[in-house]
Amino acid sequence: MSKPSGIDEKKMIKVSKELFTDGLPLPAEVYTRLPSGQFILVGRKADTGNLSNLHLMQEKQVDLFVREEEYNGVVTFNVNLIEKTLKNDSVNPVLKMNLLKGVAESTISELTKKDVYVGSFDRCKQIVGFVQETVVQIKDFDKFLDIFSKLPGDLVSHSLATSVVSLMICEQMDITMKSTLEKVVMGAYLHDIGLKEIPLEILNKPRLQWTEAEVHYYESHPLRGVEILRDIKEIPSDVLGIVLEHHENALGMGFPRRIRDIKINPLARIVAVADCFVDLIYENNKEGARRTPEEAVAYIENIMGQPYNKPAFLALKKIIHLTHVQKKLKGTG
Ligand SMILES: [Fe+2]
Repeated sequence: MSKPSGIDEKKMIKVSKELFTDGLPLPAEVYTRLPSGQFILVGRKADTGNLSNLHLMQEKQVDLFVREEEYNGVVTFNVNLIEKTLKNDSVNPVLKMNLLKGVAESTISELTKKDVYVGSFDRCKQIVGFVQETVVQIKDFDKFLDIFSKLPGDLVSHSLATSVVSLMICEQMDITMKSTLEKVVMGAYLHDIGLKEIPLEILNKPRLQWTEAEVHYYESHPLRGVEILRDIKEIPSDVLGIVLEHHENALGMGFPRRIRDIKINPLARIVAVADCFVDLIYENNKEGARRTPEEAVAYIENIMGQPYNKPAFLALKKIIHLTHVQKKLKGTG
């Protein structure tokens, strides 16, 4: 079946419908795919969004796609929207949650695209559903949203990606108890909350240029995070443990307390390796290119000397290896 010129299926990214709020301008050209495989344009960039009608008209769920080059713009648009709406008291918490869900699903979509994740978009959506359910359980949900809303936008998607990668590591390590997974998700979601008290001038400056006082300030963020969360009722102590110890490592060279593996909270050991991995795949390397998941794992192992908890790191390595093999099999199959 021929496709309209200019649309390369490999360059289209499936996105969540929650990314397009009715009544707001569309941040990109939005397409759907016909059963024949053809992509058709259903919304033009900058036009007022009205895509929920599209869902009402069809009995089946409609999949939406954007071009790869417009994808980052769509996510940034939504992260900015989240920042604005979370701060607005008159916006209903369900709508706030839906916006978070849209960005969460895109984070997953991005992880899938980066070949971090083995599995379908629908399977990924299940994981996001779990993240969402867990977060909504926080009794002091309004207070949680308020705290979360003060995080800089890119930290929102970093926190979500860390939650997902932590869950994948748990799955690989056969950690299946729901209450444990919930704590991992909540801790990974909130791990960098203390960064909201670190001035942006420090955070935006290259780390190599930090003064000793700035390093000290930055290294206080786990402790500040715990202090912020003490205000929220019923945050489990394991979640506080993750927030406090997500920068510690097995060799005792982390911060703020430089404790060794045996003393680190077992769930913090998992989030620590996930956090470092997510940082590496989102940051540019020395040549200014994004690292692939394989390169990020090799970096932790060879350049950093694998300072993290061994079983957690090996689980991550296995996930990336399996994805790589699956990708190769697909390519030759
Ligand atoms: Fe951190």
